[in-house]
Amino acid sequence: MRASITALSLLGALSAVHADLHHLIVGTFGTESLYTLEFDDSALTLNLIQNLTVSTASSWIALSHDKKNLYGTALSSGSSAVPAFVSYALGNATDITYSNLVDLGGNCSSSKAIFVMAATESPYAVYGTPFGGTADCGAVISVDESGVLSELIQNYTYKSTSAVHGLAMNTQNTFLYSADDSGNTLWTHSVDNTTGELTYVASLDGPATGSDPRHVAIHPEGQYLYVILEGANELAQYTVDQSTGIPSFQNVTYPLIPSGSDSSSFWSDEVALSYSTNYLWATSRARSTNATGYISAFSLATDGSITSQLFLSPTTNSGGTANSVSPSPFTDTFVALTDSSVGFVEIWQLAENGTSASVVARADLDDGGCCANAVWYS
Ligand SMILES: *[C@@H]1O[C@H](CO)[C@@H](O)[C@H](O)[C@H]1NC(C)=O
Ligand SMILES: *[C@@H]1O[C@H](CO)[C@@H](O)[C@H](O)[C@H]1NC(C)=O
Ligand SMILES: *[C@@H]1O[C@H](CO)[C@@H](O)[C@H](O)[C@H]1NC(C)=O
Ligand SMILES: *[C@@H]1O[C@H](CO)[C@@H](O)[C@H](O)[C@H]1NC(C)=O
Ligand SMILES: *[C@@H]1O[C@H](CO)[C@@H](O)[C@H](O)[C@H]1NC(C)=O
Ligand SMILES: *[C@@H]1O[C@H](CO)[C@@H](O)[C@H](O)[C@H]1NC(C)=O
Ligand SMILES: *[C@@H]1O[C@H](CO)[C@@H](O)[C@H](O)[C@H]1NC(C)=O
Ligand SMILES: *[C@@H]1O[C@H](CO)[C@@H](O)[C@H](O)[C@H]1NC(C)=O
Repeated sequence: MRASITALSLLGALSAVHADLHHLIVGTFGTESLYTLEFDDSALTLNLIQNLTVSTASSWIALSHDKKNLYGTALSSGSSAVPAFVSYALGNATDITYSNLVDLGGNCSSSKAIFVMAATESPYAVYGTPFGGTADCGAVISVDESGVLSELIQNYTYKSTSAVHGLAMNTQNTFLYSADDSGNTLWTHSVDNTTGELTYVASLDGPATGSDPRHVAIHPEGQYLYVILEGANELAQYTVDQSTGIPSFQNVTYPLIPSGSDSSSFWSDEVALSYSTNYLWATSRARSTNATGYISAFSLATDGSITSQLFLSPTTNSGGTANSVSPSPFTDTFVALTDSSVGFVEIWQLAENGTSASVVARADLDDGGCCANAVWYS
């Protein structure tokens, strides 16, 4: 009797290990929903478990450091709607409660909010940028003791041609990097560790005219920065000066479209580190919905330098304005990919030998505006 109970609980423990349920939250480009998906990593199923109607679409969402809050890009309501950021409290991946909306001020007010990220160290400020119109600016927003967006504490200006599409902060939260797509520039700001406010440090032109830095990621060791060059359709590796925080380009790039492709038919999208940081994922989108985008992975040395490009494979569709990759926070194996040409989220799995990846699960969310980006709650 005792032996069989032990055997049963052991079986239970094993099956729990091998069949974990994970949750993702997905935003949209124009429809007013936040979706919660459940991924079963054993059955390899991806199911919609909640369609939450919200008051504003979020084309980019980000979790707070402790996953107790979700921040999103937004448009404030009313006739004089201005770009804003929205804050939700999270009890879990389906317990999502609207908390607050903070308008962008200063030079940001004539465009739409495009990107948001949260610091991982105190004071846990939230950083956001707009795009389109006159979008030569960024905003720093404080949070209250619960992590809820509190107030705009800084408007800062890049340069007249700027529009920043992506931001990344180093692990120590001492420097913020801005990928300035319209201004073809990579910016470095230092971060005040008491207020979260930024101070300009440096700006660096893109490797060539029309390179157009779009998104950026930084390795936790802080020595390497990876930049998506949207126009060049390349991933660029930069080295970071450890005392000044300033990146420099060493002419190290990898293609995000096959050689011989017409670069003007694509726009590269996203770069993100895997769970262990042994891998880096990157994507491109096709500008035409009758062509596919591409997904690629790279292996990294422990210092963060890229050792090789593992593969470059077509995605299922063009990606629309998404094809954003979000690596899982529990293993290197899985990465979520969002598509807005049809409206779906896929889970891709890296082959055991790392030489390829393939789709193992998919959820269709064709509401006319999905899917922008996905965050893994668990
Ligand atoms: C979230 O918590 C609620 C109870 O507050 C529970 O009913 C629900 O199943 C939970 N959802 C998930 C995805 O765990
Ligand atoms: C942001 O800019 C607006 C307009 O210039 C100004 O009214 C506001 O005080 C600024 N806010 C901060 C925190 O700098
Ligand atoms: C708005 O931009 C102008 C011109 O670039 C600049 O002089 C001004 O300081 C900016 N305002 C804010 C609040 O950043
Ligand atoms: C905050 O920044 C200041 C100035 O760079 C530095 O002297 C101090 O050690 C930092 N504090 C923490 C807790 O990192
Ligand atoms: C950069 O690298 C490419 C190919 O790897 C080479 O053709 C080019 O000459 C290099 N440019 C510089 C400035 O070193
Ligand atoms: C895709 O459509 C564009 C026009 O939108 C056309 O020029 C191109 O030839 C098409 N490509 C394919 C592969 O059908
Ligand atoms: C890697 O694994 C795939 C199957 O998952 C196989 O098709 C391929 O030949 C393997 N490549 C190498 C280099 O082992
Ligand atoms: C979510 O709900 C909204 C409002 O009812 C609906 O318009 C939309 O199609 C739903 N989304 C999906 C993927 O079913």
